[in-house]
Amino acid sequence: MTILPRINPEMCTGCGLCIPVCPDNTIALIAGVVQVSGARCMACGHCQAACPAMAIEVDGVCEDLGFSHIDEKTGWLAPGNIDAAELVQLLRSRRSVRSYQQKPVPPSLLEDLVKIGTTAPSGTNSQAWTFTILENRSEVKLLGQLTATFFHKLNKKAVNPLWRLAARLFAGDSLGRYYRRHYQTVQKGLADWDERGEDHLFHGAPAAILVGGRRGASCPAEDALLASGNILLGAHALGLSTCLIGFVVEAMRHDSGMARRLGLDPDEDIYAVIAVGYGAEIYQRPAGRKGVVPRYLKAVAREIVTRG
Ligand SMILES: Cc1cc2nc3c(=O)[nH]c(=O)nc-3n(C[C@H](O)[C@H](O)[C@H](O)COP(=O)(O)O)c2cc1C
Repeated sequence: MTILPRINPEMCTGCGLCIPVCPDNTIALIAGVVQVSGARCMACGHCQAACPAMAIEVDGVCEDLGFSHIDEKTGWLAPGNIDAAELVQLLRSRRSVRSYQQKPVPPSLLEDLVKIGTTAPSGTNSQAWTFTILENRSEVKLLGQLTATFFHKLNKKAVNPLWRLAARLFAGDSLGRYYRRHYQTVQKGLADWDERGEDHLFHGAPAAILVGGRRGASCPAEDALLASGNILLGAHALGLSTCLIGFVVEAMRHDSGMARRLGLDPDEDIYAVIAVGYGAEIYQRPAGRKGVVPRYLKAVAREIVTRG
């Protein structure tokens, strides 16, 4: 079904502000009022958001995200109309937290995080992401156990020189690299998990969110990761702490049985696993970063074609 903006001609003032913001060139000013002139619409809601007269609606585009824990400030912040220092302070204060209080996170708060995730851009506005909430510690432990089972099998192969040789001959050196870089740490983590119930994977987090994307969407991985970035920041603002758990993503990438055991859809892939909880870490200041030296294209390009 094609979605198109619905324009109320009685309310449209003909200001035309909606026209340049439409990525599909679907609307035009005809005889003093805006009308639908094209047949394509990615339902981005830009026209609706730009209209001062509230004359446009796009089916399925919901302006109110319905947060439970956020008293949203409505109104659009124009570029420059935000405290950049505060924004950078938030960006720098978020940490990957590896120690959590055993205090449950209300599901409504986890749902707010998901809604924050959906504010991210997505390729062709597909919004074809999936968010699966693990709302308590036993669900997190279940995923931890499935991941441990995967890594037990992987470590058994990686420690065997014959498997490493065979893998190198037929599939490159990824098993050898894993053996050199991760085998020992993972082996210790598995022993601590099996023998003492110590959780070096989810760091004892009481909840988690899996962020996935539908296969066939234009950019499912990018969409899911951008949504995840928003979730990490939103969580910090809402008093929660998070940590991306790449080991689980890696396990799920190689073992499709894990997704089946969790009841996920066959057409989705998981791109981020986010541990969530009330953190038990205290910092005095933001962590530093390795310096970055951006380069300019003109310094590296063999040839730059400039057109007037
Ligand atoms: C793709 C990705 C996967 C990660 N996987 C893990 C993980 O499995 N376990 C973990 O403790 N931290 C993981 N992290 C967190 C990084 O170690 C962390 O972002 C980095 O050390 C910088 O610290 P900061 O997030 O506090 O700035 C991951 C981060 C990313 C981006």
